[in-house]
Amino acid sequence: MAPELLYGGDYNPEQFSREVWVEDVRLMKVARVNTVTVGVFSWSSLEPSEGVFTFGWLDDVLDLLHENGIGVILATPTASPPPWFSLAHPEALPITADGVRLLHGSRDTYNPAAEAYRHAARRIATELGRRYGTHPSLRMWHVHNEYGTVSFGPVVDAEFRLWLERKYGSLSALNEVWNTTFWSQRYGEWAEIFAPQATQYLGNPAQLLDFRRFAAELLLAAFNEQSEILKSLSTGIPVTTNFMLPSWLHYDQWAFAAAEDMVSIDDYPSEPGVEGHAQAAFSGDLARSLAGNRPWLLMEQATNLVYRRDAMLVRSTQEMVRSSLQYIARGSLGALFFQWRAPRTGAELFHSSMVPHSGEDTDQFRGTVHLGALLAELSELAPGSRQAEPVAENRVAILWYPEAWWAAEARGLPRADLNYLSLVRQVHRALWLAGVGVDFVHPDHELSGYDVLLLPLAIPLSTAQAEAFEDYVGAGGVLVAWYFSGTTDDNFSVAPGGYGGQLARVLGIRVQMVHPVDNALELSDGSTATRWSEHLDLRGAEAVGHYRGGALDGQPAVTRHQFGGGVAHYLSTHLDDDALRRNLVSILDQAGIQGLAGDGLEVIERRVGDGHFTIVLNHTDAPGVVTVRGDDLITGQSYAGPTEIAAGAYLIVRT
Ligand code: GLA
Repeated sequence: MAPELLYGGDYNPEQFSREVWVEDVRLMKVARVNTVTVGVFSWSSLEPSEGVFTFGWLDDVLDLLHENGIGVILATPTASPPPWFSLAHPEALPITADGVRLLHGSRDTYNPAAEAYRHAARRIATELGRRYGTHPSLRMWHVHNEYGTVSFGPVVDAEFRLWLERKYGSLSALNEVWNTTFWSQRYGEWAEIFAPQATQYLGNPAQLLDFRRFAAELLLAAFNEQSEILKSLSTGIPVTTNFMLPSWLHYDQWAFAAAEDMVSIDDYPSEPGVEGHAQAAFSGDLARSLAGNRPWLLMEQATNLVYRRDAMLVRSTQEMVRSSLQYIARGSLGALFFQWRAPRTGAELFHSSMVPHSGEDTDQFRGTVHLGALLAELSELAPGSRQAEPVAENRVAILWYPEAWWAAEARGLPRADLNYLSLVRQVHRALWLAGVGVDFVHPDHELSGYDVLLLPLAIPLSTAQAEAFEDYVGAGGVLVAWYFSGTTDDNFSVAPGGYGGQLARVLGIRVQMVHPVDNALELSDGSTATRWSEHLDLRGAEAVGHYRGGALDGQPAVTRHQFGGGVAHYLSTHLDDDALRRNLVSILDQAGIQGLAGDGLEVIERRVGDGHFTIVLNHTDAPGVVTVRGDDLITGQSYAGPTEIAAGAYLIVRT
């Protein structure tokens, strides 16, 4: 069969009668749905009491879908253990950092460290693997849903101690690294150590960082054991688990991605208009990077109403279509949604869906049909057997790693609101608005393929990582580091030689002191900034911008250091959006990198095997002009130069 883009969503037939299933399949065919994700929250329907399995309904659903040419991504339902499980195994309920045991009543009520939970999860995964591992509808295994549960309490404490013993070998090593003499925390027995729960005042940040690592590894171990079971019971079926992007910090996305056959994400941009598309671009770039620049899958997005803080965000069909194209242009195998049919009731009863409560004769369902018809015409963008080939060729990368995020969340920092995610997003957004394609990269990965590396708020860096940056710049790379980066080693110990000590050599500076500020700051080039400033000494670097006014009047604020064959820049303050963009564009310009279009007129170059495609998306409400050469994938029209793209429109061109 020729490859096609995947189109469909989470399908929960267990909530509906069999008459509705028949109607579902009819509507799926109308909408050209070819893939549905089944079973994500079906545990109590599949195992209504311990060890008693009721697979009959799922047999029928899978057969029905298969007869109608619809492929299945089959989930293990382990994100929501049934009530009987929680009643029988209270020790497997999660406990918050404040010591509150959460009871059944929602989802994700499990403690990933509890053996009873892990055992029950393995058992249901095994049963599913045995029964459906060779079912002809099966396209992919979807383990769990959005790993992210962190628990505390005795079961976790015991596991954490074992993890610490493995890491440190001896209590004296742990005491040394955590500097437990501070506030008399010196440990004489492993049993004295607890996971960092609610305590009197500030906790130990090194302990916190280790706990985050431990908790992330625990989730990965839970994934791995299910993945191994499913692989042993099927042949050639890829295993995935869906990451909630971008705001979930409980796991190490890179480590998960390395363990998966297919990276998949759920993404729910929360801002209207161009800002929402900047958010989708962020998640799509992150997913492609996590996937090693290979195809990945958008497992969930919302149709026309997106859950968020106070009021749901309404998005138009045009916006839904352009977001879907943003992900596909970045390597997604297709566009899947949460969810196919709106539930009658239940926790998320007003969540949007491909088939809304008001049924078939609605603009929403017409939008579902429209997108399905469009994707069916874009099958050249489906990688098919070419999934091993790279998707993009970006020269710029942003450093993204969990320790940086975890460190910035610690208490006791010079500012409580050092927000890693928001700074990384600010940097990505500035580049996206400037039309520059970017990847994300982990500090332990190969860096030499990039011309420019951006390090926002990379507080903890190991000595090996710092040396890798020196090698990178020495060999001709351009590095841009943000304030407070490199201030500690990877165990949260302040590096010698002043703040930023791990990067001091490559940056050619020394940070004497940090100056968090409440007022706005001005720099000599007219840039405005907020929140943060630093008293820098130049140790080889030159100042390219100074603070104007205030405590640091006349002191260097932005520096540049020629180091070996490359250049290392430092931004010691939190630049406002415009100033950040100006600075980055100028640095990229010096490196010979220019953006394509920008300001919401998005141009993405996509490779699929030997094919090259240009995808132009106009997210703005004004027409835009882009130079394109090639043939329109839908109309066949040829373009050979400046081409107007109407407000809200798109072009997909084979170049
Ligand atoms: C997540 C979950 C879904 C659903 C949606 C709501 O992505 O995986 O089950 O709760 O959020 O937006």
